[in-house]
Amino acid sequence: MAAPSFDVSGKRVLVTGGRGGLGLAVGEAFKGAGAQVTLADMAPAPATKDGFDHVVIDVCDTAAVQRLADATPSLDVLVQFAGKIGRVKEYEVETFQHIVDVHLVGSLRFATAFRTKLAASRGCIINVGSMYSLFGSPHAPAYGAAKAGLVQLTKSLALAWAKDGIRVNAVAPGWFKTELTRPGRENPEFFRKVSERLPDGRWSEPDELGGIVVYLASPAARAITGVTIPVDGGYSAS
Ligand SMILES: NC(=O)c1ccc[n+]([C@@H]2O[C@H](COP(=O)([O-])OP(=O)(O)OC[C@H]3O[C@@H](n4cnc5c(N)ncnc54)[C@H](O)[C@@H]3O)[C@@H](O)[C@H]2O)c1
Repeated sequence: MAAPSFDVSGKRVLVTGGRGGLGLAVGEAFKGAGAQVTLADMAPAPATKDGFDHVVIDVCDTAAVQRLADATPSLDVLVQFAGKIGRVKEYEVETFQHIVDVHLVGSLRFATAFRTKLAASRGCIINVGSMYSLFGSPHAPAYGAAKAGLVQLTKSLALAWAKDGIRVNAVAPGWFKTELTRPGRENPEFFRKVSERLPDGRWSEPDELGGIVVYLASPAARAITGVTIPVDGGYSAS
């Protein structure tokens, strides 16, 4: 029996939210594994060369996403990290709609625009959920609704596009040290509550997410589709 292959070298990978904490770390993981990585983000690209290709794009701009897909010769892996959180403002309808648009509709927008390219390469999509895919989110109801919706969207796309040879999975990160979680880490009561529920009391580093995402994109994960994998230091087990 042959050893499993975790080889993603030469694969063309597009990471949305690629200038953020987790997107950049996962981009680095793919780059380190020999993939050709494009980081797509609203945030401006750096002035200096860093070994990535860069695209400045808003995942809510349907026409721009389609133009990007049309201009992309081929794609093997789409990883969808673009995201933000509006916190209690999310109880206002406009903010709720915007947050859902970024996370949930934005992921569908990219997936749909790149479907033909992914079918041609028999590629895969990796969406990004959250602990709030599983638990209620009283401080960010739109974020929670979008992240729960992404679990379902992942299953639906996995079923619908299996005939195209496209696998669709998601990861559900727990508590990683990025800008997104900075306000929570700076709130002593929130920080304590989360830390106490983590079995080893430790918030994760961004580079601890790359392994599972690269694995999901590799030949070794060929039989895996439609799942959301928690990467949470045991948070959801407690
Ligand atoms: N950090 C965590 O612990 C954690 C936990 C669970 C889920 N997540 C998810 O992981 C993803 C990345 O989070 P992060 O912690 O790296 O946050 P981050 O704030 O560091 O990065 C988010 C990135 O998304 C980009 N972005 C926001 N809106 C966009 C838009 N409309 N179009 C294009 N790009 C846009 C931002 O510019 C930023 O670079 C998010 O979907 C987040 O919900 C993070």
